[in-house]
Amino acid sequence: MADPVRPLIAGNWKMNGTSAELPELKRIADGVEGTRSDSPYDALICVPATLVDRAVRTVVGSPLAVGGQDCHGEENGAHTGDISAAMLADAGATHVIVGHSERRADHGETDIDVMGKALAAHAQGLTAIVCVGETRQEREDGRAMDVVDTQLAGSLPEHATPQTTVIAYEPVWAIGTGLTPSLHDIEAMHDHMRDRLRERFGTAGALFRLLYGGSVKPANAGEIFGISSVDGALIGGASLKSDDFLAICAAMPAR
Ligand code: 13P
Repeated sequence: MADPVRPLIAGNWKMNGTSAELPELKRIADGVEGTRSDSPYDALICVPATLVDRAVRTVVGSPLAVGGQDCHGEENGAHTGDISAAMLADAGATHVIVGHSERRADHGETDIDVMGKALAAHAQGLTAIVCVGETRQEREDGRAMDVVDTQLAGSLPEHATPQTTVIAYEPVWAIGTGLTPSLHDIEAMHDHMRDRLRERFGTAGALFRLLYGGSVKPANAGEIFGISSVDGALIGGASLKSDDFLAICAAMPAR
């Protein structure tokens, strides 16, 4: 049965982007606007925190949403250098990525931390994009699904809903490497995650958006989007160039 979920195509600019890149963002916004009436997807770019406010003003009037890449789990307080969900919402963000593997690796973020961040995002009306994914060693050891199960169970708040929460499956070894799992392996993992979500959230579990992330490019987006349990993508490198991001958007079939 075809997946009924409306796809989301999301970019993650990571630690890239200053005001010099705002024209590129504008080109993305103009490009997704071109398909507004019959667009088969929603589009989002998660920019560095310093750019959120200007990015929102740059894309105003277009269907492109702007998100952040991380938020602190606390509402406010003595956390030098951190960004709260309220700050992102105040700047105009509608989404925030939490638990990206680069944050888990670089900053030692645990599933408990990620859940706290998702809760903080929800409290401010932000959609949390919760990232999960195994390392190469974990896949080679045959533990990919167990690892993702543990991350999902530990990172997703109990009250998460398909409206407040998106899940991104990003195998760590596929990020920025040009490597991707086989289509069969992506489908198997997404089907598996869907089963777990149904078990935990009942009928709502069928409606969470499940994004694939890791070396999505114009050349492979069509075949990845052809997997019925893939509800869009979280795109790093290829989201920095409007031509690439829009080519990926164009590869999303009508559902
Ligand atoms: P790449 O598309 O550059 O592999 O990055 C994926 C990613 O980490 C998105 O969050």
